[in-house]
Amino acid sequence: MTVLVTGGAGYIGSHVARLLTQRGEAVVIADDLSTGIPSRLEGVTHATLDLAEADAVQSIRAVIRAHDVTSVIHLAARKKVGESVELPEWYYLQNIGGMANLLEAMKAEGVTRLVFSSSAATYGMPDVDFVGEDFNCKPINPYGETKLIGEWLGRAAGKAWGLRAVNLRYFNVAGAGWDDLADTAVANLIPIAFAALKAGEAPKVFGDDYATADGSCVRDYVHVLDLADAHLAALDYLERDDRNFDTFNVGTGTGSSVFEVLAEIKAATGIDFEPEVLPRRAGDPPYLCADVSRIKNELGWSASQDLASIVSSAWKAVASAN
Ligand code: WQD
Repeated sequence: MTVLVTGGAGYIGSHVARLLTQRGEAVVIADDLSTGIPSRLEGVTHATLDLAEADAVQSIRAVIRAHDVTSVIHLAARKKVGESVELPEWYYLQNIGGMANLLEAMKAEGVTRLVFSSSAATYGMPDVDFVGEDFNCKPINPYGETKLIGEWLGRAAGKAWGLRAVNLRYFNVAGAGWDDLADTAVANLIPIAFAALKAGEAPKVFGDDYATADGSCVRDYVHVLDLADAHLAALDYLERDDRNFDTFNVGTGTGSSVFEVLAEIKAATGIDFEPEVLPRRAGDPPYLCADVSRIKNELGWSASQDLASIVSSAWKAVASAN
């Protein structure tokens, strides 16, 4: 009765693995360590493997057999939006190819429960403020496409051989549940702003002329520990419910603007700064927040941490790493 966590050396995967372990579950991680950090695997059972490599099906089957894996949380994927635009073939090979290998191995070994790490990037540029799961998904980059196709693949496997898949569409994940599991990639607003402050520069705001309350873009920031907890709720749901496919937004249902995030950063860091306003960044929807009613009703899950604790935990973790 072991949970296989693919991508468990990553920022989100390491939180999921640690929370599962704390709950008393047996965990094995599979990670190729291309972006994952080896120190996050200390004391955790793991296998180093790339789900998209040629003999991955056999390697994954061996891991499943060796550890008596009964369910899988699949996070291993490439996730840089800009890179996916430059390298679409590689993103499809890695994200779709890797997932196909994983499902092939699960089918061969009779493992039927999957929690899939999907993304709000599947929605593209929705013309509603609070987007629900039934919204017509139109991703606007190859990264978002691979996440949507991953959902479809899980649904098709459900019809073909009885896979039971829950897709979690993450909104803007940030914060740290433990100081040693900080988001070390400088790829999203909060880590980018921290990096700017550390370099003695002003954090930047991509556009202050949107039709939002303060003119900056609004997003739904969810604490990584809340997100990790949603994976445990999804596993529990797969235990008790026999539907073979479902999709849930994971967010707070509350929007925060870039200026509001920067205000929390000022409060958490104690550093006073004047943000530098730049032109709009291409492809940014003005407002993207989760309708969280389905996950609340079906999984009994809701976020417990607010923007202040997201930002302060992120800062504390980054500061402790220096
Ligand atoms: C948030 C807001 C920026 C940096 C992306 C992906 C998505 C998901 C999460 C998944 C936006 C603004 C940013 C800065 C700024 N990825 N911003 N100054 O774009 O909502 O979502 O990450 O794995 O698929 O698209 O997140 O953190 O880049 O930006 O003003 O220096 O902050 O314009 O409005 P985004 P983000």
